[in-house]
Amino acid sequence: MFLKTCLLLLVCSVAALSAHSYDGYKIYDIYARNNFEKQLLLRLANNVDYDFFDMPRALDVATRVMVQPKDQESFEELLRRFAVNFMVIDNNVGNTLQQEQLENQSQRLMAQRDTKRSISFTAFHRHDEINAYLDELAKAYPSRVTVKTAGKSYENRDLKTITISNGDGKSGKNVIFLDAGIHAREWIAPAAALYVIYQLVENFVANADLLKSYDWVILPVVNPDGYEYTHTSSRMWRKTRKPVSSACYGTDGNRNFDFHWGEVGASSFSCADTYKGKTAFSEPETQLVRDLLLSLQGRGKFYLTLHSYGNYLLYPWGWTSDLPADWRAHDEVAQAGAAAIKASTGTKYTVGSSTNVLYAAAGGSDDYAFGVAKFPVSVTMELPAGGTGFNPSTEQILPFVTETWTGIRAMAEKVIQKY
Ligand code: ARG
Ligand code: ZN
Repeated sequence: MFLKTCLLLLVCSVAALSAHSYDGYKIYDIYARNNFEKQLLLRLANNVDYDFFDMPRALDVATRVMVQPKDQESFEELLRRFAVNFMVIDNNVGNTLQQEQLENQSQRLMAQRDTKRSISFTAFHRHDEINAYLDELAKAYPSRVTVKTAGKSYENRDLKTITISNGDGKSGKNVIFLDAGIHAREWIAPAAALYVIYQLVENFVANADLLKSYDWVILPVVNPDGYEYTHTSSRMWRKTRKPVSSACYGTDGNRNFDFHWGEVGASSFSCADTYKGKTAFSEPETQLVRDLLLSLQGRGKFYLTLHSYGNYLLYPWGWTSDLPADWRAHDEVAQAGAAAIKASTGTKYTVGSSTNVLYAAAGGSDDYAFGVAKFPVSVTMELPAGGTGFNPSTEQILPFVTETWTGIRAMAEKVIQKY
């Protein structure tokens, strides 16, 4: 009898662990007023129990961090001891996420009922729905769309790319390569990639100028294992899902590229969110992006990778504060994107090199595309925060992705005009 209950309890606690509820988790905004306070936050950020949504940067922006119930008292106590200002911006992340999940679920069902496509811009969709959409487009527009399974994720999901052309049959055109979703929890990024696909394919006439001398290759979800995991188990997961040590899973894909790998801003600790991986390109997903980038070498003129959040248009380098010799080309393109967005919605983006405007972090896909695969322009776009950062509401999807498209369109025009 006792054994039976124990077993039951064991099963129960394992089940509870596998679906992470975030019950009682809090999100704090912390205001560092001086360098001492900033250093204190940087020290705290090394503790893997604290989930820093962003790293302490300039003194005028708050640092956002999620803390589990067992650490909240000591965390607040520490901030108070050093008289650091903070504010609780979500008192119970579990409640918030539960409500959002219900809302997303009902929006998904409504979209399925009302539209002929497998996806919509009124819900966040699952990876199989996203892949189904790509296949639908290939079927509906065979002269302009090619969908390929470029490889598989660690958990054996198909990583599909869509190549979009204007159907004139000319090969060897220059290429714009766009990807999203290397970080699992940044749901708005794959949504924005899907909207780019939608514009170029289903709204072709209005965008034909972007496909005259260029083809587009788009990989909307780089890290589908992580993405699915955020839908089924743990909404705030960032990394891939390959086990690393007995205790921890996953590698930060955007620290795993072999260019100054691991030199700065990446963790060697497998449990950390910015874990650089056992070796460079230890992950099948980053190997696949590498192979795509290298296969496009020469034709590839613009690499754009979508992330959230923070409103940044970042360019190399991410591993050093030095600027590349031709940083002006990057700056011109990124500024065109920021200006177009500003003019359309008033949303402000910060433009600059990753290290100089955000923080140093080596092993990013952007540095690799520029430094190794020789894309002349390589940009990381950090979309705006929704909700407390990674969780825009379903109503925010369409305004966010249309605004993002405005910026991407302007950057693409600039690239096409320059190269
Ligand atoms: N938030 C992104 C990250 O941490 C920024 C990446 C910028 N690029 C870079 N090479 N550091 O992955
Ligand atoms: Zn990211």
